[in-house]
Amino acid sequence: MNFSKFILKITLIGVFSINPLFSADESSNENNKTVLITGAAGFIGSNFLQYMYDKYPEYRFIVLDALTYAGSLENISQEIRSADRFTFVHANINDFDIVNSLMGQSDYVVHFAAESHVTRSIVSDAKFLETDILGTRSLLVALNKNREKVERFIHISTSEVYGTAETQPMNEDHPLNPRSPYAAAKAGADRLVYSYYCTYDLPVVILRPFNNYGPNQHVEKLIPRIIASIILNKPIKIHGSGEQSRDWVHTLDTARAIDMALHKPDFSQIKGQEINIGTNKAVSVNAIVHSILDILQKPHYPVLKISDRPGQVDCHIGGNTKAQKLLGWSPIISLEEGLSETLKWYLRNPDFCINLYENSSHPVYVSDKEISYQ
Ligand SMILES: NC(=O)c1ccc[n+]([C@@H]2O[C@H](COP(=O)([O-])OP(=O)(O)OC[C@H]3O[C@@H](n4cnc5c(N)ncnc54)[C@H](O)[C@@H]3O)[C@@H](O)[C@H]2O)c1
Repeated sequence: MNFSKFILKITLIGVFSINPLFSADESSNENNKTVLITGAAGFIGSNFLQYMYDKYPEYRFIVLDALTYAGSLENISQEIRSADRFTFVHANINDFDIVNSLMGQSDYVVHFAAESHVTRSIVSDAKFLETDILGTRSLLVALNKNREKVERFIHISTSEVYGTAETQPMNEDHPLNPRSPYAAAKAGADRLVYSYYCTYDLPVVILRPFNNYGPNQHVEKLIPRIIASIILNKPIKIHGSGEQSRDWVHTLDTARAIDMALHKPDFSQIKGQEINIGTNKAVSVNAIVHSILDILQKPHYPVLKISDRPGQVDCHIGGNTKAQKLLGWSPIISLEEGLSETLKWYLRNPDFCINLYENSSHPVYVSDKEISYQ
């Protein structure tokens, strides 16, 4: 299919949302599932889509995405975009009729779509509540209506729901202390999914990935921002001391975990569960900067410490005992290998960084007197 036909396909679906997207003779069986993925024009979703598309040649994929500033069709490979077993629906997850119609045609649902940037949520949080909480509600109501059809619904939550680590590593029973409006919105969605499981016995699993990195990530996020700064020959800006630490997970390891949740033979063992996707290790922002500069052999590159982000999380470290036990998952991509591959991808795609860089920092009031561009 060429690109103009592809656009036509999008438009028609937007208008005739109740029409089946795939013909009746393609009805589902064990090897031939239809997977609805929300937010797959963004970072993790697009990597997950590619992983699943390559691994399951019989599966059909529907992507529902509003193409906000964070989403781009370019994040979805040309091969997938032109495949008959792929359909893109340009719509908002709060558009219930479309969500309901798509859900009624899907065996599996993986829900990524969200406003995802902590700094933006400090500047303006209403959209986060609307998308992350109400958008998730729209999906849950549709899931309940289509409970005879949809077998599994994987909700992509986040480690941010925990706030700063009170125990190391942080397990799933760690208190939820979200420290930013983004984290609070995601905590609301996470608990809403759980409440629909308790109330309506829906087939949900809540995955809580820790900090993901890899190709297609917007340069507003730390690792791409460091690389983009270097590509554009600008100083690397670090919030606060840079000693805040995160648990870094390569996005393909996250894709593997979601796949395992979708295909676990005995679903009753994970239904309604929260499962961390983390590595049991925390690495500071300073150490990430140094690793990147080491790989690029630029040890003296300028690094600027700016005001710390309000609501900063000091430490995130994700215990993965539950993921190992219930999914058989543990990470297989080391930070060294993942960083080096990620760096190569951005260096091969400098335009990705250049196009997004201007839109990647925002004025944040860090005190009565000081505004910091973060
Ligand atoms: N990036 C991380 O490190 C990380 C870690 C843990 C969890 N998560 C979660 O994973 C999910 C994906 O994160 P990401 O980093 O890929 O995000 P992203 O910002 O790169 O992508 C979000 C996608 O959702 C789409 N979207 C936004 N609002 C929408 C709406 N109302 N309707 C339909 N589509 C909409 C955007 O167009 C975009 O394609 C999010 O739920 C996020 O909270 C991310």
